[in-house]
Amino acid sequence: MADVRPESSVRTHYRVSGVAARALAALAAQGIEEPAPSDLAPVDQLHTGGIRATRELASLLELRPGDRVLDLGCGLGGPARCIAFEFGCTVVAVDLVRDLLREGRVLTSACGLLDRIQFVAGTALRLPFRDESFDAVCTQHVVMNIADRLNFWREAARVLRRGGRFGSFDIVRGPNPAPLTFPLPWASRAEISFVLTPEETRVGMEEAGFEIERWEQPEPPPVTVPAARGLDQRMALGEEIGERIANVGAAYADGRLALLRVLARRQR
Ligand SMILES: C[S@@+](CC[C@H](N)C(=O)[O-])C[C@H]1O[C@@H](n2cnc3c(N)ncnc32)[C@H](O)[C@@H]1O
Repeated sequence: MADVRPESSVRTHYRVSGVAARALAALAAQGIEEPAPSDLAPVDQLHTGGIRATRELASLLELRPGDRVLDLGCGLGGPARCIAFEFGCTVVAVDLVRDLLREGRVLTSACGLLDRIQFVAGTALRLPFRDESFDAVCTQHVVMNIADRLNFWREAARVLRRGGRFGSFDIVRGPNPAPLTFPLPWASRAEISFVLTPEETRVGMEEAGFEIERWEQPEPPPVTVPAARGLDQRMALGEEIGERIANVGAAYADGRLALLRVLARRQR
């Protein structure tokens, strides 16, 4: 029977334990005691394209030192640390899953960035922030877990200052309508997977109050489990991530899935 509480199923799906200790020990074994955010990228950038995709999104958003940025569905905080360290922003990082936030705080402390990143537990569908409180909002590979997409975009628009920028990098349906093969990285089964077409995404964002400025469908890179310098995404997501990433790669290759990067502005 379908789970009527998708948020609780999402929480179960992303449960992690001990990833920060494993990653920091692996770096320490190589003499890296105070890592830069990029050192952690194989374990904490939980989206196609890794830290390069985060930098591309931050550049598209034209993030500037001092900007107050909200990262929706921050995961382990890898994108937030990159934005704080490389772009000089202060970041509020929100996620449903307390385990991820706890591990993310440990990694952020190790990078010396706790003064620039605040981790907040909660759902992107009811954000605990006042209207117009951020210069920019970003999100990567979160919406595939969100059934109530219009509310997700409306909340993002509400907390943005007027004219503020929204940047998203997500997986969408491609032209091949064949069914997806599970498990996928964001869902073991179809009940918590909500992948829209690019056109559905455009209509929803505009209805939520965004003006779309840039619309890019980058060619998916070849996907393998990220690993470098003794770190491996299996440390964060377990052995199963191999099969999940292989299923995404096959769906990119035959056009069932595609990538979409958007820059939009909250209407004034
Ligand atoms: C594939 S991970 C991506 C994490 C991060 N954005 C990154 O790129 O490294 C998806 C994240 O979205 C979070 N998420 C899913 N639904 C959410 C919701 N309704 N509110 C907040 N976070 C959510 C999950 O807990 C998970 O951390």
